Amino acid sequence: MKNYTSINDIDNINSWIEEAKEIKAEPLKNIELGKNKTLGLLFFNSSLRTRLSTQKAALNLGMNPIVMNVSGDTWGIEFGDGTVMDGNTAEHIKEAAAVISQYCDIIAVRAFPSLTDKQKDESEHVLKSFVQFASVPIVSMESATGHPLQGLTDAITIAENSTKKRPKVVLSWAPHVKALPHAVGNSFVQAMQKMDVEFVIANPEGYDLNPEITKDTPIYHNQSAAFKDADFVYAKNWSSYNNYGQILNVDADWMITKDKLANAKFMHCLPVRRNLVVEDAVLDSDASLVIEQANNRTFAAQLVLKKILENN
Ligand code: CP
Repeated sequence: MKNYTSINDIDNINSWIEEAKEIKAEPLKNIELGKNKTLGLLFFNSSLRTRLSTQKAALNLGMNPIVMNVSGDTWGIEFGDGTVMDGNTAEHIKEAAAVISQYCDIIAVRAFPSLTDKQKDESEHVLKSFVQFASVPIVSMESATGHPLQGLTDAITIAENSTKKRPKVVLSWAPHVKALPHAVGNSFVQAMQKMDVEFVIANPEGYDLNPEITKDTPIYHNQSAAFKDADFVYAKNWSSYNNYGQILNVDADWMITKDKLANAKFMHCLPVRRNLVVEDAVLDSDASLVIEQANNRTFAAQLVLKKILENN
């Protein structure tokens, strides 16, 4: 594996999960693998978990992480081909990616979508420009349409906590006050489609995700019907895909409550807005796996970095 930019880069999710569990049991076993190698982490957007867990993963492999906040600490980067650069951007991605490749052995990039230009977002122009113009491997730390480190984390967490051979997993839309990307939902869908689980999606009318990603996964517009006999409920807000980037309503009836959850475990990628997405009684109960998910972010990232270091 040269790059990790999508859940589709996972060739066998069950063997990846087993390897992640081995890393979790002995995190420093491969401390020599990344010795004298540098991981560059480029953030076009905010982060807590991804920023810390990916650095921790690099340190566990003996790598040296360098973090750069692209929006504040560097020259504005131009991505347009043939652009006359007489505006605010001072450096083209062709030079920027090539230069960063002189200092880093792997480059990890976080770049959210605009949520205003669907075609441009779906072209993944930022992530794909790094893949094109860098001379070293690229890892997505969340792009316009996917969050594959989070999706891998969630698959590991479900495998660890499942008491059934084929658990029922529900991805449920939940209310929010801001228009949010589809990336976490998309990667969770793709991860669950690779696992041996009964998987359904629940969202209000108008919030169906990209049908090229959901494919034949059942979509319920009735949350309680979707939640019947669920073992895991994964909550996430996303803006409308059809009315791209729009908030159609803020339907508080879709908040996750203890009553709705019944015997299911609760999952969320974090950060989460309490008593809007999910009530306190869920997050403060033993049903919540959110801190375990955050812990597993390190081992998902470490697995990805390990595979890239071994193959390059
Ligand atoms: N789940 C996640 O990616 O968290 P951050 O945005 O804080 O990195």
